[in-house]
Amino acid sequence: MFVGIPREIKAGETRVAASPESIKKLLKKGLHVRVEKSAGVAAGFADKDYQMDGVEIVDSKAAAFSCEIILKIHKPTSEEISLLKPNVVLISLIEPFNQDGTIEKLASANVSAIGMELIPRTTRAQSMDVLSSQANIAGYRAVLEASTHYGRFFGMMMTSAGMAKPAKVIVIGAGVAGLQAIATAKRLGAQVEAFDVRAEVKEQILSLGAKFIEINVGEEGSGAGGYAKELSEEGKKKQILGLSEKIKKCDIVISTANIPGRKAPVLITEEAVKGMRTGSVIVDMAAANGGNCTLSEADKIVTKNGVTLIGITNFPALMPADASNFFGNNLVNLLSLIVETKDGKPEIKWNLEDDIVAASLVTHQGKVRWSKK
Ligand SMILES: NC(=O)c1ccc[n+]([C@@H]2O[C@H](COP(=O)([O-])OP(=O)(O)OC[C@H]3O[C@@H](n4cnc5c(N)ncnc54)[C@H](O)[C@@H]3O)[C@@H](O)[C@H]2O)c1
Repeated sequence: MFVGIPREIKAGETRVAASPESIKKLLKKGLHVRVEKSAGVAAGFADKDYQMDGVEIVDSKAAAFSCEIILKIHKPTSEEISLLKPNVVLISLIEPFNQDGTIEKLASANVSAIGMELIPRTTRAQSMDVLSSQANIAGYRAVLEASTHYGRFFGMMMTSAGMAKPAKVIVIGAGVAGLQAIATAKRLGAQVEAFDVRAEVKEQILSLGAKFIEINVGEEGSGAGGYAKELSEEGKKKQILGLSEKIKKCDIVISTANIPGRKAPVLITEEAVKGMRTGSVIVDMAAANGGNCTLSEADKIVTKNGVTLIGITNFPALMPADASNFFGNNLVNLLSLIVETKDGKPEIKWNLEDDIVAASLVTHQGKVRWSKK
């Protein structure tokens, strides 16, 4: 049974769905692998790094797609779907929320497609959770990006030529990306404060050595499944007001507030940006999803009112070797749920009762299984 690893073609993407390390794990399951030529080059993996017994480096996209299982980062284009054979298993991001016709095309091509963004955030699924593995990298890289655009030190510096004060960093949203951003900014020596509408993350913020920003929004912000719920209009106003006061006094904002499947909440207004001193930096990690800041622009770095607004939407692509390795390992762990190896021979076994499979299998046996809740 062959697993295909095509080269990603989405603009700006440098990652690949398998690293040499994750491929070794596929081979151990008795699977064979076809890697499209140069698929890993942008991520820092040469074709020769994949050369192992059981791996073929293939020249054409069609050859990489002519396998029983396909591993990818991004959802396939229409042209890529046309290369898939019936009954193939595709595991990648699928973006079902976009409702752009991809899942209907996958169903009519009789592809069993697993959407990696649909995997539940449970302890058992943690090793398969690409959103977490990639957000962790993104939170780290976002702080480094902020530091290169900030014309000052992050940590306190005492030198014979003068003293530099530590940067004041505010992190909004303390989920996976936010917690990593807090840890990274702390490691660089910044003074860090953080806010989240879910009261239960206060402890995690404090445990990283940051201060928790207390804003009374007048309601409970925790929703189902460990995610936040949308605040009422009144609650939103209170939050924006409380945050604006804090933002005026800080140098860097890393904003990660998000509720899955919804547009990002607007938390940083033009007024708040105007209140910041010249040279300050805002990293709007939610830029792809509408943004937490009204002035940030997706995929752009712009300066407005003297404040640099960073709207990079694919931070993991800036650290593609580790990002690909983590993503590839997540894919292999997921694959273990549907591939059983007996006497060295791998077989696909569907258990639709499994909560992870049930939540993430978007199309199967010619039908769309996913529906917007
Ligand atoms: N730019 C990139 O390269 C990149 C990469 C990965 C993730 N992201 C984005 O970063 C964001 C965070 O990702 P994540 O995986 O950490 O998500 P997450 O769900 O783990 O964390 C989001 C956090 O935001 C909090 N939140 C929601 N509404 C809020 C509000 N009104 N005020 C304060 N906090 C609020 C939630 O409680 C949660 O803790 C998402 O928008 C995601 O799409 C961007």
